[in-house]
Amino acid sequence: MTLARTSALPVRLPQIGRLFALLLTLLFSAGMSACDHTDVNPPGYNKGYKPLQPVSYSHKLHAGDLKMDCKYCHFGSETSKKAGVPPLSVCMNCHKSVKTDAPQVKKLAEYYAKGEPVPWIKVHNLPDYVNFDHSRHVGKGLACQTCHGPIQEMPEVYQYTNLSMGWCVNCHRDYTKNPPPELKDRHLFATTDCTGCHQ
Ligand code: HEC
Ligand code: HEC
Ligand code: HEC
Ligand code: HEC
Ligand code: HEC
Repeated sequence: MTLARTSALPVRLPQIGRLFALLLTLLFSAGMSACDHTDVNPPGYNKGYKPLQPVSYSHKLHAGDLKMDCKYCHFGSETSKKAGVPPLSVCMNCHKSVKTDAPQVKKLAEYYAKGEPVPWIKVHNLPDYVNFDHSRHVGKGLACQTCHGPIQEMPEVYQYTNLSMGWCVNCHRDYTKNPPPELKDRHLFATTDCTGCHQ
């Protein structure tokens, strides 16, 4: 629990009712999840998590060597809450004709023929009570790599940061006070209000 770091936050009176309800919900859901996981780490803390994916798709090859733009596949990242994982049809734009004899590409073609999506396993998992929105970050000019690390060098994607509340709040404070040079003209003001991230 990292509340100590945020205890200096101003809390306005009308917020107190909402805050109290919020705290109850959060503490209750945190307590519940502590009961049904034998795992030491709560959902957001799995730094380094790298599940085995159903098809061995490589970001190093596609985003690194072939220099494909992240947003060609993650087209939600600038305009929506979710960056999203691309539908198989995006892969098939190329793989109807590229490397059709490779076993991993044959797997793609089988899913495609059956009309089924590839059952990708989610790498990043914030708890449901946290409100995170890609467009609010990418739209302000933050590079994907700020939060996801050098994805274009990863043959298999892994979780690069711990996704803790401290990680979010510290950056919000730092980027508001002292933004990196390339974002100076954006007049950033990132929230440290509980209800900004928890609704
Ligand atoms: C050709 C399409 C394609 C391109 C280009 C691409 N990705 Fe992906 N990305 C995927 C697919 C498919 C997955 C799901 C499988 C996996 O996790 O490897 C994924 C997964 C991810 C994940 C993990 C999602 C999760 O489950 O939590 C992140 C983060 C990510 N991509 C970021 C990026 C970034 C940053 C770039 C650019 C440097 C990029 N991607 C370029 C297709 C693409
Ligand atoms: C813009 C074209 C393009 C798109 C879109 C694309 N790929 Fe590829 N892919 C390639 C090329 C080019 C290669 C490398 C071929 C080679 O090795 O010469 C490749 C290689 C691969 C391989 C390795 C094949 C082997 O050699 O074993 C896999 C697996 C693969 N892609 C999966 C995917 C998946 C999954 C998606 C969608 C998320 C995707 N690709 C989207 C162009 C593309
Ligand atoms: C400010 C940090 C930050 C930036 C910048 C960022 N992401 Fe994310 N990304 C996250 C977090 C946090 C999650 C987990 C969200 C969740 O579990 O609800 C995530 C999840 C994802 C996922 C999993 C699917 C989804 O939408 O939840 C993909 C794919 C992804 N990001 C791709 C990208 C790409 C591509 C970019 C750049 C265009 C990008 N991200 C920029 C923090 C960031
Ligand atoms: C690397 C820095 C960084 C990280 C890490 C980060 N954010 Fe942000 N966040 C920002 C910036 C910059 C903005 C845009 C502020 C603005 O619009 O001026 C923002 C905006 C937001 C907003 C929209 C409200 C607002 O203040 O504009 C929410 C909600 C938010 N972030 C939640 C999160 C959560 C939840 C996490 C952690 C899972 C997180 N952020 C991680 C930098 C970051
Ligand atoms: C910038 C985003 C952000 C802000 C602002 C924020 N939180 Fe969080 N909070 C998170 C994230 C992300 C998590 C989940 C990861 C974790 O538990 O560290 C979380 C988790 C929590 C939890 C569950 C902790 C646990 O041990 O499971 C509580 C309780 C909580 N927040 C309360 C608050 C309160 C009270 C405030 C205001 C003083 C606040 N948060 C402000 C992002 C934020």
